[in-house]
Amino acid sequence: MTKQSVLTLVGAGPGDPELITIKAIRALEAADVILYDALANDVLLDYCKSAQVTRFVGKRYGCHALSQNEINDLILYYCSRFQNVVRLKGGDPFIFGRAQEEIDVAIASGIKVRIVPGISSAMAVPASQNIPLTCRGISESFWVVTGTNRNNELSKDIYLAAQSTATIVILMAMSKLEEICDIFVNFGKGEIPAAIIQNGTTIHAKMVTGTIKDIAYRAAAAAMENPAIIVFGEVVRLNRDMVISQVRELQTPNQIDATKC
Ligand SMILES: C[S@@+](CC[C@H](N)C(=O)[O-])C[C@H]1O[C@@H](n2cnc3c(N)ncnc32)[C@H](O)[C@@H]1O
Repeated sequence: MTKQSVLTLVGAGPGDPELITIKAIRALEAADVILYDALANDVLLDYCKSAQVTRFVGKRYGCHALSQNEINDLILYYCSRFQNVVRLKGGDPFIFGRAQEEIDVAIASGIKVRIVPGISSAMAVPASQNIPLTCRGISESFWVVTGTNRNNELSKDIYLAAQSTATIVILMAMSKLEEICDIFVNFGKGEIPAAIIQNGTTIHAKMVTGTIKDIAYRAAAAAMENPAIIVFGEVVRLNRDMVISQVRELQTPNQIDATKC
């Protein structure tokens, strides 16, 4: 391990490659090695002019091209040979990004770690569909919750979220959608507006809206899949086309490559 090795965890943003920070671009330009995830748009690799290695380590909803341990091993391997190793991760590395495991393994081996925060899908995807997470007089806070925990079980926080008046944003939850909706309905939230947004901020963006009591049915009818974000809250009404349930194909110039996993 060279003393100078630096591991930089870079947030790639939510999918649209223009939703990336200048600091992230500079980190990509300076990288010798890029290890990138499925939710990081490939177009961003165009910035990696001096990289000698660009390697897909595709992690997506429990479907792993490599296990986390294998990724950790690759980080150590490349840091022992190169000075600037970048882990390019979807959204923000610290929002359900398993960043801490990679930081811990690097630090334990004497590698310096740098974090470049990213624009999380949790905020950017609803915003891209004209859904504000807070709005004066409508929502005073928002929660970002995972649907599934490390054992692929329903997160206990869903029960707490169902009792809150906050806007609820749920990631990694499509496999538990019905179960989650039932919990909210049991807490009297069936009539609250709901939206599910798939591939947000990309050319494949697709949204279905309804209420918590019918959104699972509507999502199934529209064949909604991962990666998708669920939003529950009165703020969903602020989306201009809330009146009817709809699936919209939005044209933005960029896309996530859904074939990677
Ligand atoms: C492992 S988490 C990583 C989140 C990421 N660190 C972030 O800040 O956006 C992956 C989940 O994020 C959500 N997600 C990420 N990108 C998305 C997108 N473009 N559209 C919809 N959901 C997305 C989905 O819920 C997906 O299952």
